[in-house]
Amino acid sequence: MDREKAIEIVGKKIKGPRFQHTLGVVDTAIKLAEKYGANREQAEIAAIFHDYAKLLPISELKNILKEGQEDDSLLLYHPELWHGPAAAYILKKEFSIEDEEILNSIRFHTTGRSNMSLLEKVIYLADYIEPGRSFPGVNETRELAEKDLDQAVFKAISNTISFLVEKKAAIYPDTFEAYNSFVFNTDS
Ligand SMILES: [Fe+2]
Ligand SMILES: [Fe+2]
Repeated sequence: MDREKAIEIVGKKIKGPRFQHTLGVVDTAIKLAEKYGANREQAEIAAIFHDYAKLLPISELKNILKEGQEDDSLLLYHPELWHGPAAAYILKKEFSIEDEEILNSIRFHTTGRSNMSLLEKVIYLADYIEPGRSFPGVNETRELAEKDLDQAVFKAISNTISFLVEKKAAIYPDTFEAYNSFVFNTDS
């Protein structure tokens, strides 16, 4: 699928600030892909579609996770996490996007996971640091993204876990595993 077609599809589903966010993620993902050697076209398509399911009602997301072959253990955790796997399922089914690297980068953009691929890191980080984002720690993560992809994703995952701990919210195991895999891979 080309960029124009993808943007047209997503533009019908996502409006306003959420669409601006998506465009910010697209620009950032392309820059990161070029800087760190990920495939530009995959990064672009993944970024355009990453929040495709973001605005679906919770009940619909729940049904998609139950009916699709997505990980329904997520249903025990915050609904904010559900739109990644739900989008992966819809994109495969309705738009015949079969590229598993693209689908995984969308699927795991809400949680991270152990040993993330280059494209998964690019999309996770682009979603976290796109220019429209403003929250504590984002500038530090942007600076790291200029220097070292792994350090930047590690920072984003660490911030997310700290934020959840602060709120006494549950933490999905994949997010811990992402954190641990960066600890193990960067301390050696
Ligand atoms: Fe998202
Ligand atoms: Fe997003």
